[in-house]
Amino acid sequence: MIHTHAKGSGFTDDLYVCTAVVDFYAKCGELDMAIKVFDEMPKRDVVAWNAVISGFSLYSGLADVISLFKDMRRRDGLSPNLSTIVGMFPALGRSGGTLREGRSVHGYCVRMGFSDDVVFKTGILDVYSKSKCIVYARRVFDSSCLKNEVTWSAMIGGYIENEMMMEAGGLFLQIEICLKDIVSYNSLISGCVENCRAEESLHLFRDMKCSGVGPDITTLLGALTACSHLAALRHGFSCHGYCVVHGYAVNTTICNALMDMYTKCGKIDVANRVFDTMHKRDTVSWNTMMFGFGNHGIGKEALSLFDSMRDAGVSPDDVTFLALLSACNHSGLVDEGRQVFSSLSRGDFNVTPRIDHYNCMADLLARAGYLDEAYDHVNKMPFKPDVNVLGTLLSACLTYKNVELGDKVSTKMHSLGETTGGFVLLSNTYSAVERWEDAESIRTTQKKTGLHKIPGYSWVDV
Ligand SMILES: *[C@@H]1O[C@H](CO)[C@@H](O)[C@H](O)[C@H]1NC(C)=O
Ligand SMILES: *[C@@H]1O[C@H](CO)[C@@H](O)[C@H](O)[C@H]1NC(C)=O
Ligand SMILES: *[C@@H]1O[C@H](CO)[C@@H](O)[C@H](O)[C@H]1NC(C)=O
Repeated sequence: MIHTHAKGSGFTDDLYVCTAVVDFYAKCGELDMAIKVFDEMPKRDVVAWNAVISGFSLYSGLADVISLFKDMRRRDGLSPNLSTIVGMFPALGRSGGTLREGRSVHGYCVRMGFSDDVVFKTGILDVYSKSKCIVYARRVFDSSCLKNEVTWSAMIGGYIENEMMMEAGGLFLQIEICLKDIVSYNSLISGCVENCRAEESLHLFRDMKCSGVGPDITTLLGALTACSHLAALRHGFSCHGYCVVHGYAVNTTICNALMDMYTKCGKIDVANRVFDTMHKRDTVSWNTMMFGFGNHGIGKEALSLFDSMRDAGVSPDDVTFLALLSACNHSGLVDEGRQVFSSLSRGDFNVTPRIDHYNCMADLLARAGYLDEAYDHVNKMPFKPDVNVLGTLLSACLTYKNVELGDKVSTKMHSLGETTGGFVLLSNTYSAVERWEDAESIRTTQKKTGLHKIPGYSWVDV
């Protein structure tokens, strides 16, 4: 509207108005409009070029950005300045692996004398680490004499992005204390958790507290997730204490993380206490508690929690039903499981059953010995059955010595391309009912076709 108004009032020749219009369209991703107004401008300055280049950099490909960059001098005889380059970083970063353009822009900046600027260094460092050229990124980092917390975080973030957690951690330890800020701690802690290095994230958390940087909610969520992965109850308790002292224990997200941590550490009663004293519970809170009860083999508690959830007027979601079915499965509550599943498939709660729900139900039926019903259930589901659920069914056939069904299931598994595990199970089923010849013949076929089962193993950390 303002653009139309500007046209009507004869502002179409005004450099400032036109630049503002171009900038507006470019920032909103309306690139066609931006370029139309831009092309019609009688005169363009560096600011107008920067506006259009940064818009294309955000919403279009690198090729367009580079060609605009070249046009700037060619069409209007203008030299790009540092703002132009900064505007190009998003496209350079996104193009991933097109090191050539990144290198030549870098070279250009060295010639123009921009390369000592902290903003430039951080930006190009980021481009290199996004392009998986961490070696170049590190070179830029090492060559910066003035490093601020942004430079450090960019380099550490680059390592994390390239899954080089050791390097990230090592670099982090070298930051002078005054530069370690909460953002770099948080990104490092959550990076460690995501990359299955929960233990390191807890060390970082301790280091952070010692260095006087106060953890915030994000830090605590990361640390609690780490405790949950490691079942590290003592650390979990201390995080909980920290939350209480600093007033975070009233936050719903924190309470959900606490409940998850306590259930993983086997402290279902403490989890339940957290749940009971929560100020505001969301669906995740109810679901977490139901999963907790289910995994601890107290399925009845999970079911009665579901009733309370409905009384409290909270709508269940698909995860709620997975929690319920899984609770029934763990406690062998067949009738209750059947009821939950049928109310789910009737659409009583506006939730469509997913394959996980079907699998859990099949698992429940099979483990309880309702083999035919389980097989029927698998055949009726509107998805291609996955090999794991058939595997469970086949092991149930072994447990209950049902060879006929075992044959059928194994054929089905075979038709889905799974062979090895199915062979072993079927052969064990035959052995269980003392049909040694059949068992032997399967093992022979298996050897002949060159299939071999990878032996199972387990390990425990003491
Ligand atoms: C780039 O040039 C424009 C126009 O002269 C100016 O407004 C802007 O501040 C310059 N950017 C830098 C980083 O010098
Ligand atoms: C709880 O913490 C989360 C994560 O930081 C935040 O998004 C949310 O707004 C907080 N809730 C309250 C009630 O403060
Ligand atoms: C069902 O319960 C058994 C035994 O507790 C467990 O091993 C299995 O993973 C469960 N299945 C599902 C889909 O939760």
